[in-house]
Amino acid sequence: MHRLTNRQIILGITGGIAAYKSAELTRILKTHGADVRIVMTPAACEFITPLTLQALSGHAVHQHILDPEAEAGMGHIELAKWADMILIAPASADFMARLNSGMGNDLLSTICLASEAPVVLAPAMNQAMWRDVQTQQNATDLQNKNIRLLGPGVGDQACGDNGPGRMLEPLEIASQAAALFEQGSLAGKQVFITAGPTREALDPVRYISNHSSGKMGYALAAAAADAGARVKLISGPVNLEAPARCERVQVESAQQMLDASLDGISDCDIFIAAAAVADYRPVSVAEHKMKKGKEELMELHLVKNPDIVATIASQPDNPFCIGFAAETQDVVAYAQDKLQRKNLDLIIANDVSRSDIGFNSDENAVTVISKTAATPLPQTSKRLLAKQLINLIADQYAGK
Ligand code: PMT
Repeated sequence: MHRLTNRQIILGITGGIAAYKSAELTRILKTHGADVRIVMTPAACEFITPLTLQALSGHAVHQHILDPEAEAGMGHIELAKWADMILIAPASADFMARLNSGMGNDLLSTICLASEAPVVLAPAMNQAMWRDVQTQQNATDLQNKNIRLLGPGVGDQACGDNGPGRMLEPLEIASQAAALFEQGSLAGKQVFITAGPTREALDPVRYISNHSSGKMGYALAAAAADAGARVKLISGPVNLEAPARCERVQVESAQQMLDASLDGISDCDIFIAAAAVADYRPVSVAEHKMKKGKEELMELHLVKNPDIVATIASQPDNPFCIGFAAETQDVVAYAQDKLQRKNLDLIIANDVSRSDIGFNSDENAVTVISKTAATPLPQTSKRLLAKQLINLIADQYAGK
């Protein structure tokens, strides 16, 4: 169930007596770290009050497609984009029929149409309704459209009948939903990601560093974890929370980043170097704060830092290695040179001369360069870009 941590789940509730179990399902999803937003159909509100679900989820319940208040906050398109999963429990026969025919005649069906997130149904209905030829056809069609059905179970029903059509118990639904998050493109893979800047100390209070915020590397770590990978995030000093389901190792200097990268490297399948590592460090670190002297000029003696990603790429049994190239001119040409020199499988080139992308901004635009191709990915949020990059990396890794 740890896979539910920080997942953004829309819990859709349709009209059926099993709607009372959705309260418990909300509680279980929340207990395991999911952020849950409730969407109820009008019929669902006849079985359980929105107030109950609001109290349990901690958020206002969404009910109406034409709701000026919701559109000012999180309207149906925002909800559709926000969700990592749309879980509909209970899913009535009527809702399954409407979903299968592509209707968008209430908020929940419209969100399903507008979302790219996986849709998962826990059907619940009378046994005769479940056995009905059209319901069975709808169930088959929905599964053929990659919509996952959890259950239904078989047994005593609220109406007194016995047979198939019972909604699975909330705990079973939550654990099956959690398991679906483990089937990503990097399931079972160990990914190491370096992120943020390094700091190279001059004395106890001063250091050489750069403007990397860590946002790109942290977004990659979150996307890799979402894709099912075990992620070790080796991070320089940044002001970001560790992404959910990632092991974070915090370092300061390039040498510490290298040591943390080499630790356990034989288990690493994919190494992504998004950190902005200082190329040089002071030859020595003063024991005490350096004093201002009389001279106008001050000389600093620097020595080259080890190249972390090149060191990893030169290991026996090296992982699939991806570097970043931060360039201010001739971006693709310089990146291609680094791809070769550092013996990388891929390099992701970004133009850091622009203030709207690259260092410290929320967006980026890159070109993914392999030995044979260059694929531009246009400007978007680092979160979305990271998802695209992880998909691309997973494809290239699978085909290597
Ligand atoms: O952190 P953000 O604010 O979100 O910004 C993201 C970013 C711009 C820092 C990121 O997208 C990026 O480009 N990271 C790499 C920055 C960099 O140091 O590039 P480079 O061209 O100098 O290095 C090439 C590659 O070698 C990089 O993968 C780098 O991590 C690696 N390297 C460099 C030097 C070194 N001593 N060891 C290394 O591993």
